[in-house]
Amino acid sequence: MFSQAHQRLLAWYQANGRHDLPWRNTDDPYKIWVSEIMLQQTQVKTVLERFYFPFLEAFPTLADLAAADLDEVLKKWEGLGYYTRARNLHKAAQLSTPDLPQSVHELKTLPGIGESTAHAVAAFAYHTPVPIMDANIKRILYRVFAIKKATDKTLWEYAHKLFDEEHPYDYNQAMMDLGSMLCQSRRTNCTQCPFSTICLGKEDPLAYPQKKLKKAVPVRQKKIIVHHRKGRYAMRQRSSRFLHGLWSFTEIDADADVDNMAISKRLGDISQQYSHFRLDAEVFLHEASIDEHEWFTLDGIASLALSGADHKVVTLLKER
Ligand code: ADE
Repeated sequence: MFSQAHQRLLAWYQANGRHDLPWRNTDDPYKIWVSEIMLQQTQVKTVLERFYFPFLEAFPTLADLAAADLDEVLKKWEGLGYYTRARNLHKAAQLSTPDLPQSVHELKTLPGIGESTAHAVAAFAYHTPVPIMDANIKRILYRVFAIKKATDKTLWEYAHKLFDEEHPYDYNQAMMDLGSMLCQSRRTNCTQCPFSTICLGKEDPLAYPQKKLKKAVPVRQKKIIVHHRKGRYAMRQRSSRFLHGLWSFTEIDADADVDNMAISKRLGDISQQYSHFRLDAEVFLHEASIDEHEWFTLDGIASLALSGADHKVVTLLKER
């Protein structure tokens, strides 16, 4: 039904696609899986320039990753955010050695691999003929079929309808590129688009999907206390679900009273945007001991995995 559009898509991809992306130039399923996990919530440019190669240098094979300490894995993930991805990647490596499973069904049993990632790994690592789904693909489907709003189930149905069974691998890679190059969320180039003949939304592409009202971002206000003694700083590994395993200074409620803590200095303020809230914190130095912490010099801290907020605290410490 879409065979002409498929041909145009492939020709467009051959001429314009991002063929030099390293995960498109390997057939090592492990490397492709790592790329898919990194790309889940991070842009291609960031993954490519800062994270993909150093991570694979540190953990060149699935067995190396499985044998590594979680702390080392988190350190290599530092700055990429959404650290649950790193913990799940590590756990999944341990569960799946010597080889990653191949089927969508088995891939989905691994931690950190949901429906979309299972399809992407099956499609890109094993050339399985299945459609993939991500924000780019969803946007193309909304526009090609002129849908304002749909459930994931309906979008998967449309994904199967538009899918090119004959060239599944190139089709999926091409769809990613189409979404990121011609069919962007706030900018489209319909005249160059290989789907312009079939696209039902092309008269007003930005109308699809319907825009959601933006929710106000919640702000969490905190105080961060840096305990300091003889050139060393007290840190603890987080045991909370959020940022689990990363090292942190002491965080307390913003309205907690610090007057009785012999605070020696107010170091400044930091702010950090996370996926679901913004952290605003005042940072204080406290010259005293505290139990249940480990003590590090600034050099020692440099080898620990920290959250973005705690990195900003370290910058304040260095500037003081
Ligand atoms: N994002 C997720 N997978 C990708 C791929 N294979 N190419 C480009 N961007 C991606």
